Amino acid sequence: MAFGLSDRVKEIAPSPTLSIDTKTKELVSQGYDIINLSVGEPDFGTPEPAANAGIEAIKAGFTKYTAVPGIVDLRKAIARKLKEENGLDYEMEDIIVSNGAKHSLYNAFMAVCNPGDEVILPAPYWVSYPEMIRLSGAVPVVIETDESTGFKITPEMLERAVTPKTKVLLLNSPSNPTGAVYSPDELKALAKVIEKHEFYVMSDEIYEKLVYGIEQISIASVSEAMKQRALIVNGFSKTFAMTGWRVGYIAGDRAVIKAMTSFQSHTTANPTSISQKAAVKALECFDSEMVDRFRNRRDYVLQRINEMPLITCIEPQGAFYVFPNVAEILGKSFKGQTIDSANTFAGLLLEHANIALVPGEGFGAPNNIRISYAVSDDHLKKAMDRLEQFLREVE
Ligand SMILES: Cc1ncc(COP(=O)(O)O)c(C=O)c1O
Repeated sequence: MAFGLSDRVKEIAPSPTLSIDTKTKELVSQGYDIINLSVGEPDFGTPEPAANAGIEAIKAGFTKYTAVPGIVDLRKAIARKLKEENGLDYEMEDIIVSNGAKHSLYNAFMAVCNPGDEVILPAPYWVSYPEMIRLSGAVPVVIETDESTGFKITPEMLERAVTPKTKVLLLNSPSNPTGAVYSPDELKALAKVIEKHEFYVMSDEIYEKLVYGIEQISIASVSEAMKQRALIVNGFSKTFAMTGWRVGYIAGDRAVIKAMTSFQSHTTANPTSISQKAAVKALECFDSEMVDRFRNRRDYVLQRINEMPLITCIEPQGAFYVFPNVAEILGKSFKGQTIDSANTFAGLLLEHANIALVPGEGFGAPNNIRISYAVSDDHLKKAMDRLEQFLREVE
């Protein structure tokens, strides 16, 4: 019996990426030969030493509550990582571990935003950001970008979006869905604008290791003023192929971390004890071969797409997505059906070409589609053949 839902949840749209993934898995279980290019997780396994550390944790009975912000070993290991890889000084008290970076982000918005605060959100954006911002009572202030700036904001665009109500700027580099990566110079130019104002920079760096031919740095490392404003978000899902383990973290201002810890203490308490032990080990296990394999696949997909009719794609420099532009397809038809949106295009591809991918609407980019190349080379080739065949039949 339903007695009504809260206004808060009534306004939330379900994650379109997860819905497509669920629908695709259902079709596959019914025997359809669908190639799933909608996934946001590596097709590699969790590093064996990390998985074994999880098994050992269970065997050793490390299966009880832990400290709310995470075990000392893990927070110290993350602090070491930030020092060695990003040149940033944080102590374990400046770090909180949560149940995935998604959870970290949600906690952070809840900890810093008041109703009516503005969060500057460059589009195309990861689908969960606007919903999380709204759940915290804040308002997303979207800066539209497209291929002409490589899907990146410029200092001028940022300056125009800042108001006295700005509380947070959200940056995601490398980006899901576009794969865009801000160069060190681009980050320094943005920092010049940010340093004139007083707001947090939530920097989602979850794809930091997946970059191809470009230097990736954390915006927190640009200056002391930036470090003071930065809340660095990261996690183990992408870099260590540990999506199911649910471990993410934030490093930043100690007062914010303390507030997030109080908030987390009443909602989920600690992240899973077993996963934390696995995560400590994972930090020693980065596999750079994974990056080479992703880079080869990116090159392959880009070349294939740019040889196809009606679709173009700029070169992404990170993550494991390409974000082709399909504007030319919109308004045309397939087997008599008008392709009036990226959403319709994705639906027709699923039905007639057995390919699942994510239409751009959910990312704030209705002229684009997102293709994940975190699938085997064989599947990728088959999927590109199917896409090409479909496009040849569009009229
Ligand atoms: C940009 C971005 N941030 C955060 C996350 C959340 O990752 P997780 O909660 O698995 O750590 C994702 C996952 O798709 C992502 O793409």
